[in-house]
Amino acid sequence: MTGDPEHEKVVVARAAAAMVADGMTVALGSGSTVARVAEALGERGSRARFACASPATAAVATTAGLSLADDATTERYDLAIDGADEVAPDRWAIKGGGGAHTRERVLIAAADRFLCVVGADKLVERLGRAVPLELHAFALAATLRHLPGVVLREAPPTADGGVLADLPADLSDPAALAARLDATPGVVDHGLFSPALVRELLVAHGDRVEHLRD
Ligand code: A5P
Repeated sequence: MTGDPEHEKVVVARAAAAMVADGMTVALGSGSTVARVAEALGERGSRARFACASPATAAVATTAGLSLADDATTERYDLAIDGADEVAPDRWAIKGGGGAHTRERVLIAAADRFLCVVGADKLVERLGRAVPLELHAFALAATLRHLPGVVLREAPPTADGGVLADLPADLSDPAALAARLDATPGVVDHGLFSPALVRELLVAHGDRVEHLRD
């Protein structure tokens, strides 16, 4: 059953916040669900330290009274918490609706554990949305030649100066598509996250939270 998406964000955020212990170093991704997580952590008076994938998350975390960690000097994180745009039953996920997927992947890869937090509305039978891309601004026209059908977003550059775009694509073989995008010059990163990363999922179904893990 799918409930109110905004309510489910709060429900799943509270469940995620309860899994953060004082003293942890935690990576927070970006988006509205993670913003609810930061608020829930603030309400709990969390004494963990947090690196944030976007200035927007950092702003919410600061307002919530959380202590920020320095991403430049932190080598690993105890936990990463982030949302997703779509999650399929095989745990392939699409992220990057908010354009922060490059930084999110860096933080998730540096974490011992990644908790993907979603409302039930994010669960899909098959991935279907266009794949978010961050592209180098340099020689953009040359990069676009490799990506027929790609649509540039009307959005400001990313925090790292990248250009955001979305690629409508055949998603029947996400691994093959991810490999192709990984090998495309000029693509900084894409929004396809593999089951090897999305191993642990918190899903809110109304007021109930389901914890799925390998
Ligand atoms: C940000 O770039 C994304 O990867 C987000 O994690 C994703 O778009 C989910 O965002 P919401 O929590 O706002 O739905």
